Amino acid sequence: MSKSEITIKNLQVSYGNIKAVKGLNFSFKSGEITTLIGSNGAGKTSTLKAVMGLLPSTGEILLNQKNINTLRVSDRLKQKITLCPEGRGIFPNLTVLDNLMIGAYQNSNKKEILNLIEQQFVLFPKLAERKSQMAGTLSGGEQQMLAIGRALMIKPDFLMLDEPSLGLAPVIIEQIFDKFLQLKKQGLGLLLVEQNAILALEISDRAYVLETGEIKLSGTGQELLNDSRVQEAYLS
Ligand SMILES: Nc1ncnc2c1ncn2[C@@H]1O[C@H](COP(=O)(O)OP(=O)(O)OP(=O)(O)O)[C@@H](O)[C@H]1O
Ligand SMILES: [Mg+2]
Repeated sequence: MSKSEITIKNLQVSYGNIKAVKGLNFSFKSGEITTLIGSNGAGKTSTLKAVMGLLPSTGEILLNQKNINTLRVSDRLKQKITLCPEGRGIFPNLTVLDNLMIGAYQNSNKKEILNLIEQQFVLFPKLAERKSQMAGTLSGGEQQMLAIGRALMIKPDFLMLDEPSLGLAPVIIEQIFDKFLQLKKQGLGLLLVEQNAILALEISDRAYVLETGEIKLSGTGQELLNDSRVQEAYLS
């Protein structure tokens, strides 16, 4: 598979008069894990939503040099970009299976959908065991697995994840991060937003530190782990 890349140029997001994202420049690639860290209110969620097209933004979002910032969300999904949102956004009163099917709503090929569901069950065997259970009755970790599985139902090239470790026990977080490494090996490009900075940086190829809507530092995951400024602000 050839390498695909999303390049963000001068991305700005405003809420009324408030500028939440102030001209970001960064990129992420297929087959890599890229992480955005930063404190509360730094603009991480706003950035992911803007890349997905859920929020209006100015600046360029280039998919292999082609600007996609005029496309609707549904068309960005067709370009194989997806977002696993903060708070997971699963449908609690639908079964695991139905939640997965919803992820494939743009696909009318039933055989392919069944095949994709099978793939998610291989990735997360817990979901197979609980396929007929209402999603709202799953444990937090299982709900996060379902949210990721649902996002993967479009066979994305790029998966953005907003705080996937939020509220989960360390052992579950490690399991889920292991899956991210597995997905990366399969060629997926992951853009991860995390408060859990140490673990996220450990698995990251590239990382950016966001502060009040601007990128303050960037480097490989290892470089940022070793950076005293990062250690003071995020790792203590
Ligand atoms: N709908 C909104 N209306 C007005 N301001 C908003 C809205 N959504 C976010 N903001 C503001 O934009 C800024 C960035 O918010 P954002 O949610 O992107 O931050 P974040 O880095 O994801 O924070 P957190 O770590 O708490 O999730 C914050 O100051 C926030 O108050
Ligand atoms: Mg957020």
